Amino acid sequence: MSYFPRLRLRRLRSARVLRSLVRETELNTRDLVYPLFVEESSGRIREIESMPGIFRYSLDRLSEEIDDVSSLGIPAVILFGIPEQKDEVGSGAYDPNGVVQSAIPRIKERHPDLLVITDVCLCEYTSHGHCGLVVDGTIDNDRTLELLAKTAVSHVQAGADMVAPSDMMDGRVAATRQALDAAGYHNIPILAYSAKFASAFYGPFREAAESVPQFGDRRSYQMDPANSREALREIEQDIAEGADIVMVKPALAYLDVIRQARDSFSIPIAAYNVSGEYALVKAAAQHGWVDEKQVVLEILTAVKRAGADIIITYHAKEVARWLATGQNEER
Ligand code: PBG
Repeated sequence: MSYFPRLRLRRLRSARVLRSLVRETELNTRDLVYPLFVEESSGRIREIESMPGIFRYSLDRLSEEIDDVSSLGIPAVILFGIPEQKDEVGSGAYDPNGVVQSAIPRIKERHPDLLVITDVCLCEYTSHGHCGLVVDGTIDNDRTLELLAKTAVSHVQAGADMVAPSDMMDGRVAATRQALDAAGYHNIPILAYSAKFASAFYGPFREAAESVPQFGDRRSYQMDPANSREALREIEQDIAEGADIVMVKPALAYLDVIRQARDSFSIPIAAYNVSGEYALVKAAAQHGWVDEKQVVLEILTAVKRAGADIIITYHAKEVARWLATGQNEER
């Protein structure tokens, strides 16, 4: 038994060197994945209004950004495509000459060591903005699977290193694994958006990707934010179907889900620090209401402390810069 005054927890907080000696969680640039928006156009770089500092790049302007990401030591990017045309069946998603399929070789030729992950979903490519095929006004799970699997294979054919299905259809991981294996891609891992909640924090992303649902919402496929036991079932299911990494998304309002997943499974866990989380911090920082660097580092450290191995974040470039120059250290 050790009680005050014998025990004084403040002792180990009394100097910077002691604090750093006993620090339990350390954020590293190698934990980070940077999301990239690529649009099917040329000569264009456009800032996303609700995400200051984040841009949509046309195919021919992508390389400047990729050079930056790579030189900062960020190990991976996750690609989102914005096609020129959308249709009912999201053809652009699985078009071998689609926007993501065209972006991948441009990136890999320049930076073969940069890991290219692709988001696999139909919502940016469908005219109705839903993540699956719409049949009689509802999202048809099983008919969507084939299109998702086809999309994943087309990304890998173009050179993607990993695919990340984000649609929340049942059975998509199994369908994707089967299609990849059938095409000979046994070694391409699947990062499953397993516990993806129907969240208002995706607002800025939908503006960026032009993927606002044209009717209804995504609650019939994305999860109810009130449920964490169900999140574990989703994760368990995706592991059984062959996921190599599972994801919890969003991150900040779901730290308990990350922790429960960490305690329940030994698979690597990714967390997505989503667009709305980024926008909140940026807006407050622009008003001078919070110290941006401190707030970002605190949030991301918390996500890692909760149990995430990998963090997908729009802050990746600034964090990599802070870490490289020691600006994260207290002084
Ligand atoms: C596609 C997808 C979404 C996000 C990642 N993949 C949007 C959605 O489900 O509406 C959100 C990412 C973010 O908000 O940063 N389904």
